[in-house]
Amino acid sequence: MPSSSKEKIYEKILSQLNALLSGETEIILKMSSINAVLHIHFQNWSWVGFYIVHGKELLVGPYISDHIGCLHIPFGKGVCGTAWKEQKTQIVPDVRNLKNYIACDSKSQSEIVIPVFNAEKKLIAVFDADSNEINDFDLLDGIFLEKILTTYF
Ligand code: SME
Repeated sequence: MPSSSKEKIYEKILSQLNALLSGETEIILKMSSINAVLHIHFQNWSWVGFYIVHGKELLVGPYISDHIGCLHIPFGKGVCGTAWKEQKTQIVPDVRNLKNYIACDSKSQSEIVIPVFNAEKKLIAVFDADSNEINDFDLLDGIFLEKILTTYF
């Protein structure tokens, strides 16, 4: 997808989220609504959701998909555990080329994972999106998704 079209989609997403979530404080409502709005606009995404920090592992949180996400992810494992460990966004253009990858579904081909920080700058969760297309995520997705997550958490 050309960057200009993607940018327009994200602008629409930002305005829908603004209407839905301004003043909202409940984490579960924020996570569910972010998933829903992104899922409506990016139909090639095969999994969109959150993993929540719980002790030394991540536990699956709200998500939308036609397949089940794995329930537990240890610190440093997979793309999600790596985003937690490194505290930074991970973009994987082709998941088949990554050794430290946890496969939940054979259709997923590329992935982006963004750390979610609370107001005290503590990492509380990661946001994860998988796509049915190779190389579906780029820096523009990283910028907009980070913007969404820093706005609402
Ligand atoms: N692929 C992820 C696991 C979670 S699923 O994609 C929903 C990973 O490697 O951390």
